[in-house]
Amino acid sequence: MSKSYETIKVEREERIAWITLNRPHRLNALNDVMMEELLDALTTVENDPGVRCVVIIGEGDRAFSAGADITAFPKITPTRAEELSRKGQKVFSMIEEMSKPVIAALNGYTLGGGLELALACDFRIASEHAELGNPEINLGIIPGWGGTQKLVRIIGLRNAKRLIMLGERLKADEALQLGLVDKVVPFERLRDEVKALAQKLSEGPPIALKYAKYALNFGSQVPLEVGLRLESALMALLFSTNDVKRGIEAFMSKSKPQFKGD
Ligand code: COA
Repeated sequence: MSKSYETIKVEREERIAWITLNRPHRLNALNDVMMEELLDALTTVENDPGVRCVVIIGEGDRAFSAGADITAFPKITPTRAEELSRKGQKVFSMIEEMSKPVIAALNGYTLGGGLELALACDFRIASEHAELGNPEINLGIIPGWGGTQKLVRIIGLRNAKRLIMLGERLKADEALQLGLVDKVVPFERLRDEVKALAQKLSEGPPIALKYAKYALNFGSQVPLEVGLRLESALMALLFSTNDVKRGIEAFMSKSKPQFKGD
């Protein structure tokens, strides 16, 4: 975890890994290096049993991320664009496939690829001054890192068309009303609020949290009957863990369970 990166920072606070997008002079725009480094950092924290929850945040107070780095666009070929799109989709899918909860702390502009990154996370907490949107249409393109497919699943077709076809930016309050973010807090409280949520998740039973995430993320992509079977199988598997014993014992003895992830 002591690895140093060029475009991101990774810090460990107890059982929480904080990943900071760190190109503030470009509003934390995502370039090739940042994508590679994100993939590396996500793989590292996924494989670290000491990490129970991951937070992704942007450096500074202006932006979580203003999206893909547009300065690379003038030279891009269609073939390369397709590769970049698939690469980004894979990196963000990795967040959805991770066994640990991931929180996006939206500390400002969350646009384009920045919003697509946030959509891949399990929870989104926004600062009051954050603005969210998919402005790609203004450049003559469409979102290519999952936005057209994922936004619609969260805020519905009508609202997704407003963001993607009109390029409208939502203020944090409206994003909250639409269910695009879970909570809006003053900027000065963002880190503390996110930390409190991350700590709560870190104290939960890791294997049950992993299977809850799988059942929710993958069960919602298949026919209901298939999703229900997936739920039953995962729920049954949890009865083989020591954590379920700890949970039940704690309930019986009216104490707080200390889950260990085995
Ligand atoms: N890629 C590369 N550079 C970006 C960027 C991006 N996506 N977003 C912002 N920047 C750069 C700006 O070019 C500027 O650099 P400069 O100081 O060298 O001129 C710097 O970050 C600060 O941004 P600026 O535009 O001056 O700030 P602002 O407060 O006036 O506007 C935004 C903020 C977010 C509204 C505006 O930067 C913007 O629209 N960015 C692009 C968002 C976008 O279209 N994302 C989807 C990309 S597919």
